[in-house]
Amino acid sequence: MDLGIKDKVALVAASSKGLGREVACALAQEGVRLSLCARTQSTLHETAEHIRSRYGVEVMETVCDLTDEHQVATLVKGTLESFGTVDILVSNAGGPPPGKFLEHDVDAWRRAVDLNFMSAVFLCQQVVPVMQKNKWGRIVLMTSISVRQPLDGLILSNSVRAATTGLARTLANELGEDNILVHTVCPGFFLTDRVKSLAERLAEANGTTPEDMEKKWASQNVLGRVADPSEFGPLVAFLCSERASYMTGSAIAIDGGLYKGLL
Ligand SMILES: NC(=O)c1ccc[n+]([C@@H]2O[C@H](COP(=O)([O-])OP(=O)(O)OC[C@H]3O[C@@H](n4cnc5c(N)ncnc54)[C@H](OP(=O)(O)O)[C@@H]3O)[C@@H](O)[C@H]2O)c1
Repeated sequence: MDLGIKDKVALVAASSKGLGREVACALAQEGVRLSLCARTQSTLHETAEHIRSRYGVEVMETVCDLTDEHQVATLVKGTLESFGTVDILVSNAGGPPPGKFLEHDVDAWRRAVDLNFMSAVFLCQQVVPVMQKNKWGRIVLMTSISVRQPLDGLILSNSVRAATTGLARTLANELGEDNILVHTVCPGFFLTDRVKSLAERLAEANGTTPEDMEKKWASQNVLGRVADPSEFGPLVAFLCSERASYMTGSAIAIDGGLYKGLL
């Protein structure tokens, strides 16, 4: 299926590694021009070079901490100067640390809000006016399957993702008249560097091994395995495409059937 987004411009945030990188690759495969960012220049450059050589699309790379609104403004300004527009925004970031309620101080809560909620606010503030002018836009915000079913030992993520979901659904309602379609995607367990490190930290806290943590997560979903990161990008590319023109306001699970409710 041709997704109909060749030569569109996508800003994929937090895209040097993991799920963000997979989204960037899936969009590049469709001929989308990319603006990528992360905090670490070396891995960002490596990913940008990989995408340029493998898919032959234009890729811009910006070192940016998404918790800083000024750096986000500079990122979007630079993208507009290079490409003239932003058609697609994929808002992503790192994840907050694991732990139970009393293990996190106030600063940890503030950092989690900055990382997984305010970063999305900053990005949307910058790109929505551009998309409104174009009367075309796609916005996908990363959350987690924890918005349906909280995950043990991840209270920061479980809490903050709910705010991001409220932001996305409200934006979808407000921006439909401008043909800007907004979704969240809710992953279960994909074996990225973050999930490998979560397995290590939770294993230590629970007196078990990372391998046992992964087995436990695998046994919780109906496919009986954790996912390969490459299984994530195509869903987001579809949501960002011309083919998804009558979908907005959805929170889409990609979790191997971990969440077992009806809706
Ligand atoms: N993997 C899963 O199964 C899963 C499941 C549910 C939810 N999620 C959520 O999905 C998101 C991505 O997860 P992942 O597994 O792909 O993580 P990952 O492998 O650790 O990759 C995180 C990416 O974000 C960048 N990043 C982190 N903090 C940033 C910041 N402040 N500003 C700019 N870039 C930043 C990292 O690069 P730098 O470190 O160089 O900045 C890297 O490119 C996280 O919010 C995670 O909690 C993941």
